[in-house]
Amino acid sequence: MLVLGVESSCDETGVALYDSAAGLLSHALYSQVAMHAEYGGVVPELASRDHIRRLVPLLREALGKAGRSLPEIDAVAYTRGPGLAGALLVGCAFAEALAVALDKPTIAVHHLEGHLLSPLLSSDPPVFPFVALLVSGGHTQLMRVAGVGDYELLGETLDDAAGEAFDKSGKLLGLPYPGGALLSQLAERGTPAVYKLPRPMLHSGDLNFSFSGLKTAVLTLVREQGDPLSETFKANAARAFQEAMVEVLLKKSLMALKQTGLKRLVVAGGVGANKQLRATLNSEAKRYGFRVHYPELAFCTDNGAMIALAGCLRLQSGTAAKTGGQFAIQPRWPLMEMARERPL
Ligand code: KG4
Ligand code: ZN
Repeated sequence: MLVLGVESSCDETGVALYDSAAGLLSHALYSQVAMHAEYGGVVPELASRDHIRRLVPLLREALGKAGRSLPEIDAVAYTRGPGLAGALLVGCAFAEALAVALDKPTIAVHHLEGHLLSPLLSSDPPVFPFVALLVSGGHTQLMRVAGVGDYELLGETLDDAAGEAFDKSGKLLGLPYPGGALLSQLAERGTPAVYKLPRPMLHSGDLNFSFSGLKTAVLTLVREQGDPLSETFKANAARAFQEAMVEVLLKKSLMALKQTGLKRLVVAGGVGANKQLRATLNSEAKRYGFRVHYPELAFCTDNGAMIALAGCLRLQSGTAAKTGGQFAIQPRWPLMEMARERPL
C-alpha cells in the first residue's frame, strides 16, 4: 500500500511517499522560515500562499525520488489539524483534489499523532507501549502510548509550550525567529551555571509543565544586564535557560516512566532535536536502565513523512478517518479528543 503524505499546518510544506511494505520511499520539504524571519514570527496569510506555490513541485520531487507515478498511490494522507486554518486548508484542498482525480481515498491525520509516531520511521523503531514526550513549538505533553490511536494524556503545559519558550527567550536574546535551534547553538558556547533560572513546577508532584515564568526570568536577566548585551552574557543566559528547560523535561519524563512502569521513552517534536536534551536523556537512560528513542533529526520538525506514516498505519489498522470530498480541517484539535473519536 502506497500512501502519499501532505503536511502544511504551519510554516513547512512537506510531501512524502510511504509504502506499507518497504517503508519510507521519499520525502520532500520546503521550510518557509527565512520568509517569516523578517516579521519575527509566522504570518499566516503568507504561509498559506507559500504552501500553494510549493506543493506541486514538492509532489513532483517526492515522486521523482521514489521513482513512482501518481496512479500507483493508494491513498492521500494530509494534516487535518491542529494548525493555521488557511495553511491547513491548502494542504487539505490539494489532497482532496488529488484524491478525486486519482479516485483514491483521503485520510485526515492529526499533526501530533504524526509527531508521536515519527520515531517509527527510524532504523531502530520503538515498540509499544511507550511514554512519549512531545515537545514542539505549540505543544508540550507527556503521553502513554499503547498503540496507534491509543493515547493517554499524563501531563501537559499549562501555558507556553517548550518550543515557544525557546523561541521567545531566543527573541529576548536578540535571535531571529525561530530562536530555538539558534538559542541551543548559543548555549553551547556558554558556561554552565553562571545564572540559575527557575525550574517551574519541578516539584508540583504531577506531570504538568509551565514555561512562561522561565521566559519571564530570561526577560528579567536581560533587563538587569542593560544594553548592549555582550556575547558572553547572551551565551551564558542561553545556557542557563537550556539547563532549566532540560532539567524540567528530564525530571518529568523520569516521573512519567516511574508512574507508568514503562521502560521506553520516545521524544518527538522540534525541541527533540536539542542536543543537550538528547545527551542528558541518553546518559540518564543508561543510569536508570530505560531506552530512549528519537525520530531522525530530519523528522523532528514538521515533515510529510510522519503524515504519510500515520496515514498508512491508520489505514492498516482500519481506523483511518476518510474525509473524501470534505474540507474537514480542524485548526484547534486536542489529540485526546481525536483518540476518543470514532473514525469518520
Ligand atoms: O515540531 P515543530 O517543527 O513544529 C510544531 O509542530 O510546533 O517544532 C518547532 C519548534 C520551534 O519552537 C523550534 O524553535 C524548536 O522546535 N526547535 C528547537 C530546536 N530545533 C527546533 N528547540 C530547541 N533546540 C533545537 N535544536
Ligand atoms: Zn509540528
